Amino acid sequence: MIENPSALCRYLSHGVYVIGVAAGERRNAFTAAWVMQVSFNPLMLAISINPAHYSYQLLHRGAVCTVNVLGQHQYGIAEHFGRSGLTDKMSGFNWRTDRTGAPILSESLAYFDCQVAHYTDAGDHKIAVCKVVATGRLHEGMPLLYSQTGNMDGSDKLYRGDT
Ligand SMILES: Cc1cc2nc3c(=O)[nH]c(=O)nc-3n(C[C@H](O)[C@H](O)[C@H](O)COP(=O)(O)O)c2cc1C
Repeated sequence: MIENPSALCRYLSHGVYVIGVAAGERRNAFTAAWVMQVSFNPLMLAISINPAHYSYQLLHRGAVCTVNVLGQHQYGIAEHFGRSGLTDKMSGFNWRTDRTGAPILSESLAYFDCQVAHYTDAGDHKIAVCKVVATGRLHEGMPLLYSQTGNMDGSDKLYRGDT
């Protein structure tokens, strides 16, 4: 039996990132915590994404993304990009691009510019395994931690077998 998974999974350490995606002229960004380094050489990151997200359509079509590291003071940004169905979700923020053309959040601590190498199924998510093709350090600061966001993502009600 899996007991109280929503509380137990909060012991797993994650950062909080804004993932920028682009396909042609269309761009979007969403908050993600399930991001990890999976290779040294080449440098690769894995991102777990719900395929129901609008961002997944763009990621799948464009095959490029950025991982933007949020700082301790950027709780509000995590909340903003964690919402779906916003019209003009990208406006009000400064964006730049590097090699892939995927949007980089200028106020993030650091970014990883990535090309999707392949996908793996993972239950109700897809894992995008991505090759890092460029990086940048933009601001000093300590990264925001997923454990500090409480139930911002509403995940408490997404677990089953919680008895
Ligand atoms: C703190 C936090 C962490 C999140 N982590 C993930 C994640 O790792 N993977 C994911 O697919 N969605 C994650 N989400 C949910 C998405 O950010 C959210 O569903 C968003 O609205 C998707 O954007 P879109 O609909 O514009 O594509 C997270 C949300 C928050 C607030």
